[in-house]
Amino acid sequence: MRKFVPLSVVIVGAAVAATSAPSNWAVAAGNPDRGAQLFGACAACHSLNPDRNMTGPSLAGMFGRKAGGLESFHRYSPALKSSDVVWNEQKLDAWLKDPAQFIPKNRMTFPGMKDDRARADLVAFLKQATAPGNSGSIQAGQQGGMTGGGMMGMGPATVPNLKTLEPADLVIAIRHCRDTYRVTTGDGETTDFWERNLRFKTDSSDEGPNKGAPAVFGAGMAGDRASVIFAAPEEISAFIKPEC
Ligand code: HEC
Repeated sequence: MRKFVPLSVVIVGAAVAATSAPSNWAVAAGNPDRGAQLFGACAACHSLNPDRNMTGPSLAGMFGRKAGGLESFHRYSPALKSSDVVWNEQKLDAWLKDPAQFIPKNRMTFPGMKDDRARADLVAFLKQATAPGNSGSIQAGQQGGMTGGGMMGMGPATVPNLKTLEPADLVIAIRHCRDTYRVTTGDGETTDFWERNLRFKTDSSDEGPNKGAPAVFGAGMAGDRASVIFAAPEEISAFIKPEC
C-alpha cells in the first residue's frame, strides 16, 4: 500500500495542473460522480427529464442546443433567447461561473459557482446526465433529497409526482372560517392554518395532481405554512367551503 502513495500524489498534482491551466481546463478533469452531488444546487429549478420544466427549463438534451431553445419552456428571458450561444462544455462553464456576466439580464436567480474544480465536476456530470437516452435514468445525489411524508415534507429537490400521493399529502377538504383554513388530509388529520400562511398553487403538467385531488406540502421551516397544489385554477374556490 505504502508504495502507491507517491504515485497518487503525482496523479493529484497532474489533475490540479490540468484544471488550473486555462487553455486545457476540459482535459477530462471533471469527476461526474462528484458533479452529481453538486447538481443539488440546480435541482430545485432544473429537471433532467425531457420537457419536465420547473422554474427553469429541463436540461435534458441541452448540449448542442441553442440557449433559450427548448420549445416546451415558455418563460425564457429575451436575453437568453436572443443570445447566440449554443451550449457546449466551455459555454456552460462560463455560464455557471457567472451567469449575469455571461448573458446579462438573464432570469436565472443563481449567483454562480466560483470554484473551477466544482464547475468541471458539474459539467462532466451534466454532459453524461443530459445526453439523449440518459436523461432521467441517472440517479443523481439530488434525487435523494426529497423528504416525503406529510405536511412537513419539503425538500430542495424535484417536486414529486403528485398523481400518487401518500394519504397524509392528499387533501380531502378545505374549510374556511374567519381567518383560518382547516385542511383535512387523507389520513384523517385536520390542520389549521392562518389564512396568510396557506398558499394555493396549480400544476397542470403530467406530474401535477389528479383533478379534484389536490396535494398539500409543508413550505416553511416552522411547519406553520403549507402549499396546496391543484390540477387547475378553477378548482381552487370550488374546493374551499365556507364553514365555521
Ligand atoms: C432558482 C432557480 C435556478 C437555479 C438554482 C438554477 N437555475 Fe438554471 N435556469 C433557471 C432559469 C429561470 C433559467 C432561464 C433563464 C432565462 O431565460 O434567462 C435557467 C437557465 C439555465 C440554462 C440554460 C438552458 C437553456 O435551455 O438554454 C442552463 C444550462 C442552466 N440554467 C443550468 C443550471 C445549472 C447547472 C444550475 C446549478 C448549478 C442552475 N442552472 C441553477 C433557474 C435556475
